Amino acid sequence: MKLIKPLLLVALTSLSLAACARYNGEDRGKPMLPNQVNAKWQAECSGCHMAYPPGLLPAASWKKVMSGLDKHFGTDASLSAADTAEITNFLVQNPSNRWSSTAAPLRTTEGEWFRVKHGEISAAVFARASIKSKSNCIACHSGAASGNFDDRTIPK
Ligand code: HEC
Ligand code: HEC
Repeated sequence: MKLIKPLLLVALTSLSLAACARYNGEDRGKPMLPNQVNAKWQAECSGCHMAYPPGLLPAASWKKVMSGLDKHFGTDASLSAADTAEITNFLVQNPSNRWSSTAAPLRTTEGEWFRVKHGEISAAVFARASIKSKSNCIACHSGAASGNFDDRTIPK
């Protein structure tokens, strides 16, 4: 009986880890943005938020995001079929290698990778009027739109 409890705990922990999008730690040195960015992506995906660099999400995520633009996080961000195809192509060719091969989160902020990097920041900080959302990367990372997350300043 004494052994069963710890074993059960281990089983439960690995189950819950498997259930979330896992960070595989292999992001060192990989640029978030390729040297040549696609002009349509830059123009069409920066209207409501900064254009999220393709290197933030795996290819499977980009396919999901791009195939659901008419119901995009509560808004309609749909584009012509030709523009959708061109932007999808750009995104899936420059994906992140930060996730396990099966992960396909719709948001960068949903995954273990984001939690690992931002674990010290409280929900109250993300809720500040100057920030409003975890997804508002550029509020803290001034270089985010050009794929640089090294600089960070948390606004008051
Ligand atoms: C009409 C406005 C609008 C347009 C245009 C738009 N988005 Fe969004 N997008 C949103 C909203 C709203 C959210 C949710 C933001 C939040 O929760 O803070 C979002 C969130 C996202 C997220 C998740 C961010 C995260 O990691 O938490 C991704 C990825 C994304 N958009 C990609 C795109 C791409 C790619 C395009 C261009 C094809 C695009 N968006 C165009 C409104 C838009
Ligand atoms: C409230 C401010 C804030 C927001 C919003 C935020 N970050 Fe961060 N981020 C930080 C801080 C602070 C660190 C450094 C944490 C540490 O070193 O412990 C960090 C670290 C990072 C790192 C690691 C950089 C490195 O040198 O290892 C990446 C990548 C990153 N953030 C990406 C993002 C992305 C992508 C978003 C939006 C989807 C985002 N961040 C939103 C504050 C923020």
